[in-house]
Amino acid sequence: MAVNTQTWWQQGRVVEADDLAEGVRRIVLSPDRPVHATPGTHVDLRLDLDGHVRTRSYSVLRSEDGGRRLTLGVQLAPSSRGGSRHMHGLEVGDVVEMTGPVQSFPLGVGADRYVLVAGGIGVTALVAMADSLRRRGADYTLVLAGRRRAVMAYLEELADTHGDRIRVFVDDEGVRLDVDALVGEIAGGPAPARTEMYMCGPIRLMDAIRRAWVAHELPEPNLRFETFGSSGAWAAEEFVVHLPQHDRSVAVTTDTSMLDALEDAGVDVMWDCRKGECGICQVKVLDVDGRIDHRDVFLSKKQKETNTSLCLCVTRAARGEPERSEPAAVTLHLP
Ligand code: FES
Repeated sequence: MAVNTQTWWQQGRVVEADDLAEGVRRIVLSPDRPVHATPGTHVDLRLDLDGHVRTRSYSVLRSEDGGRRLTLGVQLAPSSRGGSRHMHGLEVGDVVEMTGPVQSFPLGVGADRYVLVAGGIGVTALVAMADSLRRRGADYTLVLAGRRRAVMAYLEELADTHGDRIRVFVDDEGVRLDVDALVGEIAGGPAPARTEMYMCGPIRLMDAIRRAWVAHELPEPNLRFETFGSSGAWAAEEFVVHLPQHDRSVAVTTDTSMLDALEDAGVDVMWDCRKGECGICQVKVLDVDGRIDHRDVFLSKKQKETNTSLCLCVTRAARGEPERSEPAAVTLHLP
């Protein structure tokens, strides 16, 4: 039996669905048991993807009318495991199975300054935070980074609402986010030890920010983040998981996570965030044939380098060398 430590399930009806930006859909859900979603919350949805029930998490962009209207923003990911494709197909009147709001990225109170950094669709986790900081009269900056303006959701609306609190970096306009300079400004600015950064975006951006944060000797608890565990060092490819304690092997296809594949095979696994953040799904690695593509933000750099453990929810294995024909394989200790 899979174990999730935090969810309760209900039905939610799609009451609005439209395009927010190129490849980004806005979906407003009206849950059966409404609860206001505070900034930083997400909902989990149970989706039927090609006959398999999968759980996917989406940040709540906006909570209105006491949680009767929860707005999500979903980017269509070409290499997605099917969740975003399914979400983009939802129409008004469709019913989904969903949790109430789950808080995993709370906005603190009492800092002197707040810096919110959104990489691409990561903005969905930060819109409500920025609105809340504005209402509080807090000192905050919202940094938005993306590849092209056309794919950056809420850009105009955020600029209208937050004015000069916003800094926009767009790769194809040659204005790239310089992470080290941004963190350096915080370290050299007023009250660096009382500045909190909230970041949501791809793992590579998160890693760069975390490295800069440590290099500038800023307090680690002041860096908070939420990630999308989808961007790895290698493109997703099929691989095999060997479970000697269970005397079996399980194939993981390109559109399935290791956690999903093990659950489908009836193997008991623990999980919570399913995004590579909490470490609940961590297991010991006994052997690797190929390369491990960790994709989580829970394990330490050393644990990743030595491949002693992995997080089942986001980690993949890859051949690592294009000429190798056999799929990669990992052997796990799973009692
Ligand atoms: S379930 Fe949280 S890291 Fe995998």
